[in-house]
Amino acid sequence: MSNPSPAGATGPAKIRLRHLQQAADEGRPFTMLTAYDQFAAQAFEAAGIEVLLVGDSVGTTVLGHTTTTATTHQDMLTFTGAVARSVHRPLVVADLAFGTYEAGPADALRHGVELVRAGAEAVKLEGGAEIAPQVRALVDAGIPVFGHLGFTPQSVNSLSGHRVQGRDEVGAEKLLADALALQRAGASALVLELVPAALAGRVTEAVDVPTIGIGAGPACDGQVLVWQDMAGLSGFRGTFVKVFADLRGELERAAQQYRTEVSERSYPGPEHSFE
Ligand code: KIV
Repeated sequence: MSNPSPAGATGPAKIRLRHLQQAADEGRPFTMLTAYDQFAAQAFEAAGIEVLLVGDSVGTTVLGHTTTTATTHQDMLTFTGAVARSVHRPLVVADLAFGTYEAGPADALRHGVELVRAGAEAVKLEGGAEIAPQVRALVDAGIPVFGHLGFTPQSVNSLSGHRVQGRDEVGAEKLLADALALQRAGASALVLELVPAALAGRVTEAVDVPTIGIGAGPACDGQVLVWQDMAGLSGFRGTFVKVFADLRGELERAAQQYRTEVSERSYPGPEHSFE
């Protein structure tokens, strides 16, 4: 990323961790979007998005589940493979699914290795100091790790729903300490989800690795959104989401037009038919 705009037009042929670090050090915000399939991933690559996250949000955006705790390791392997095979330039990061790393470093390493075999170039896992041994084991094995702090969706039940984290000083200090613990364990970047903007700024100042915000204000080194939210497909209208397109409306319009033309026998026409 020697040039900040548009990211896809110039810069390295392949985004590596060092490019994210360089962008953060030079104060150039970078972008991450979730991706789960070939054509969306290719569109984001063409747009110059630097990092594609095969998030466990695939469970709630593609597979019809209501929480990411339902997403399985096999789901993650399938969708990670689909994205990794479809793009060249973006860094592909995959989530370790709920239940695949909490038991300890050996479990985290086994599942992390399988994600890398499927095409992931880094893995992301949720939690703070308590998962530092898992982060260390992955990093020691040569697997880059992205941490995930603040609202951690796999803990939606213990956090009593989707709530901004670190609003009080005790919570804020814990989040800062967790960020430093993950950095010490070797994490290459930290996702901060649903965190007050000022706290995200404090964390970004306190750590050397890039921070990537979602509902964490503008001070982070990068930003991430779930693609179906930002493109207006999911209909989700959280405070932190900006909707950049109306894909749902466009898709409905196209499907209605198709239905109308079939019912009127105007499609298929001679140009769509064989002699
Ligand atoms: O799975 C996901 O989409 C994520 C983002 C919300 C950061 O973890």
